[in-house]
Amino acid sequence: MSNQPTDKLPVALCQLDDLADPGSQGFVVQGRRIFAVRQGQRVFAYLNSCPHRGIPLEWVPDQFLDSSGRLIQCASHGALFLPETGECVAGPCSGDRLLPLPCRIEEGQVWLLPSP
Ligand code: FES
Repeated sequence: MSNQPTDKLPVALCQLDDLADPGSQGFVVQGRRIFAVRQGQRVFAYLNSCPHRGIPLEWVPDQFLDSSGRLIQCASHGALFLPETGECVAGPCSGDRLLPLPCRIEEGQVWLLPSP
């Protein structure tokens, strides 16, 4: 069995309107924890694993953003990540990155795509 999260894709994640703006939501796709972040009309998806300790980022379900709604935040030690790139810009894993997962919005539907 592959441990890639993207074996049988594309997968319909949710409707764009299901996500607050800004907002975030966690999913389990093929047994892997991922999350999606909405910023305006754009959505970014990442594996839900902090590069600092390899553990899920959220303590509260679906809460992946900081209080500004503009940065992804790891609840454990406060690392902050850019939603657009997954780059850690503050915290113990500064300079590391979340693992991005390609996704696309098509007619209001958010799709998780196969990794290239
Ligand atoms: S586990 Fe995410 S900042 Fe430490």
